[in-house]
Amino acid sequence: MSAKIIDGNAIGKAIREELRAEVALLEAKGVVPGLTFVLVGENPASQVYVRMKGKAADELKVRSDTISLSADTPEAELLALLDRLNADVTVHGILVQLPLPKHLNAGRVINRMDPAKDVDGFHPVNVGKLVMGDRSAYRPCTPAGVLELLVRSGIDPRGQHAVVVGRSMIVGRPVANLLLQDAPGGNATVTVCHTKTKDLARHTREADILVVAAGRPEVITGDMIRPGAVVIDVGVNRITDPASQSGYRLVGDVKFSEASEVAGFITPVPGGVGPMTIAMLMRNTVQAARQAA
Ligand code: GUN
Repeated sequence: MSAKIIDGNAIGKAIREELRAEVALLEAKGVVPGLTFVLVGENPASQVYVRMKGKAADELKVRSDTISLSADTPEAELLALLDRLNADVTVHGILVQLPLPKHLNAGRVINRMDPAKDVDGFHPVNVGKLVMGDRSAYRPCTPAGVLELLVRSGIDPRGQHAVVVGRSMIVGRPVANLLLQDAPGGNATVTVCHTKTKDLARHTREADILVVAAGRPEVITGDMIRPGAVVIDVGVNRITDPASQSGYRLVGDVKFSEASEVAGFITPVPGGVGPMTIAMLMRNTVQAARQAA
């Protein structure tokens, strides 16, 4: 393997350590950051994610609680809960874990949140601010984590060609906007590819920085990567593997065995972007508490 590994566990831990000092400062002012997770239904992956986020909050002395609702919760009930959380001064951040059950309209639900408590950065007010370059917005956690991985690995996107594969509201679009901003960690020339892109490999091979959030296992192979490029793999896919004890293993959207022979830097899966999402959620929650204090 020739690529340098970007260690998201180590970088995420360093960020959480930095936040510890901020939490202590708030505590001295009598403010304990509070984060409420809303989990609707029994999606096993969502349950795991919320548990991991709660554990990170505990370790940082951020108060967190999880409100679990049954899968058939009427939308009006969920909206009424959000109204209560919006009004609760001890709750600085609200996170509605996605995806929601089909009968619930995620757009309406996210819209109901107070943008000042939207630590996911998904509310249209925060999305709009991000696109406009207003730094007061909460940055969506995974995209903010991608930028942090680059900057803390000494990689400056300024003037580089960044190619983003994927256009989701959670990763692809916001990460493209962050890379485009006239701000530290930005100033890249950005191409966004998606499922309708013709000849994907032609674009990915042009990338100095390749951010892959396609949601499809190992779609980016070694031959699609320019030698020396920086590869950030946002994908987490469970694939069956009879050789593994559990019967499955986690892979990214990038074929790591091939890509790591070509790239200059690469994130592993797991242990790359994943831990950064949680670290950035903690940062946004501390920011929310600071702004409310
Ligand atoms: N589902 C997958 N990623 C996320 C995320 O960052 N936030 C929320 N709320 N749900 C998700």
